[in-house]
Amino acid sequence: MSTPDGAALLASRTRSAIGDHLDVLVANAGVGKAARIAGYTVEDFDNLYATNVRGTFFLVQQLLPIMSEGSNIVVVSSIGARFVVGVPGLENPSILAYASTKGALETLVRNWAAILGPQGIRVNAVAPGVIETDMSNFTKTDAGREVALGMQALKRLGKPEDVADVVAFIASDNARWITGASIPVDGGSKL
Ligand SMILES: NC(=O)c1ccc[n+]([C@@H]2O[C@H](COP(=O)([O-])OP(=O)(O)OC[C@H]3O[C@@H](n4cnc5c(N)ncnc54)[C@H](OP(=O)(O)O)[C@@H]3O)[C@@H](O)[C@H]2O)c1
Repeated sequence: MSTPDGAALLASRTRSAIGDHLDVLVANAGVGKAARIAGYTVEDFDNLYATNVRGTFFLVQQLLPIMSEGSNIVVVSSIGARFVVGVPGLENPSILAYASTKGALETLVRNWAAILGPQGIRVNAVAPGVIETDMSNFTKTDAGREVALGMQALKRLGKPEDVADVVAFIASDNARWITGASIPVDGGSKL
């Protein structure tokens, strides 16, 4: 997903494997980075945008020919698309560049939903809060865990299956009247 031709290659292999019809595309791959503003390099920035935004944009472009009435796309966004996460401060690490890639994805979701709606194709985002995975390894420290729990109404860390269940719902026909939306999956964060 981070190389210029990676998304096209993935789409071509997908088409060889599944044939000429795709019901559901879940764009989940992503990379993150937390650093002080001064700590970001051009390489960091390009890698975040190449993987999270460019890769997803061209994956959708390349797979659209095998999507049709009833197909749908679910993009994994983040709470960071809409809210500032962490403790703001020049000396504190921030995920601002990563968060902005998710903001870009949510803008794409609304545009794709508008463009593809007449074809009967739905496009939505899910926006997880802090979920216990490799990406959020700061939650493995007591301080990190406290920051995460401090912003949530529900007092436990989110798990991958908390997000997967919502993705499964959005991708299903039960969500047939939802498109262009971003669904928070964050235990009531930043209320
Ligand atoms: N964890 C959180 O707190 C959190 C919160 C909000 C949103 N999210 C989003 O949730 C999604 C999943 O993240 P995660 O938490 O599961 O993080 P993760 O454990 O770091 O997993 C990232 C996933 O992205 C794939 N990936 C990364 N770079 C790739 C590349 N260049 N090409 C293809 N695949 C690539 C990884 O594949 P490999 O395993 O093969 O490397 C892995 O499957 C991401 O979009 C992330 O931004 C996570």
